[in-house]
Amino acid sequence: MSPRPVIIDCDPGQDDAVALFLAMASPEDVDIVGITAVAGNVPLALTQRNARIMCDLAGRADVPVFAGCDRPMRRDSVTAEHVHGSTGIDGMDLFDPATPLSDRHAVDFLVEAIKAAPDEGITLVATGPLTNVATAFGREPGIAANVREIVLMGGASREGGNITPSAEFNIFVDPDAADAVFRCGRPLVVMGLDVTHQVISTPARVAAIAALDNPVARATASMLGFFHRHDSAKYGTEGGPLHDPCTVAWLLSPGLFEGKPCNVSVETASSLTAGHTAVDFWHVTDRPRNALWVHSVDADGFYDLLTRRLARFGGRAP
Ligand code: BDR
Ligand code: CA
Repeated sequence: MSPRPVIIDCDPGQDDAVALFLAMASPEDVDIVGITAVAGNVPLALTQRNARIMCDLAGRADVPVFAGCDRPMRRDSVTAEHVHGSTGIDGMDLFDPATPLSDRHAVDFLVEAIKAAPDEGITLVATGPLTNVATAFGREPGIAANVREIVLMGGASREGGNITPSAEFNIFVDPDAADAVFRCGRPLVVMGLDVTHQVISTPARVAAIAALDNPVARATASMLGFFHRHDSAKYGTEGGPLHDPCTVAWLLSPGLFEGKPCNVSVETASSLTAGHTAVDFWHVTDRPRNALWVHSVDADGFYDLLTRRLARFGGRAP
């Protein structure tokens, strides 16, 4: 089978960075048509730079990188330096990337690339606030028909929120954008905190990645070391959850995951629960099942996949 064309919309972020590495390590599965950066974990100037750093490290300066929306559609910006550090990718050694930044706006690229999708459509992978994607759909509503599926990290149900008691960060930052995406009518695969909190980067799993001893693996291990200092204290776990790579892992090996078709609706009105994802897990309403709500993962299988794919960047065998 030929690789599935994908656009990765992201706000790197240590875990977005690992999602990019996993995708760039997997050319037989995913053909990365472009990477679009959005403001989220840190401001846009940093997320687009961080995405280009990951392309450099992975030897993929050929992947075009675009900067998109620098703030949510209708609300003030919210960032997460308290989780990711002031650079967004604290923990690794930073450098000025050689991978260029395209002079086209990410939303223009999304519109054109989705319009030009092959017959089977194009897959969107979204690991940040959904501002770029919703803005593209708002500008040209007809293009959604060319989207094969959207695989996104966002939302929470049984786990509760990580930025407010009821909201997950990506959805909280731009609930209006998320609402538009969850209503877009295309297949959605949703990796919320219910599943990502099962994917814990324990010291043994990080050590297995570090032992690969290639530049990508070293950057991954050192970023996870930083990222998880905050999360381990917050959740009382031996390591933090590796959220965003779940999206790419689903494309590479969907059998690692279990999900249930559900209606997922986004709260946009309440100031108390803005960005809450109301997941109709037991189908107690007649709202349409608009998303595959992923709730379980084989975490050992996930880390095995990640480690084996990162080994492709050289160094020692896993
Ligand atoms: C999500 O928010 C960000 O902090 C992470 O990059 C991830 O996309 C987790 O809530
Ligand atoms: Ca992210």
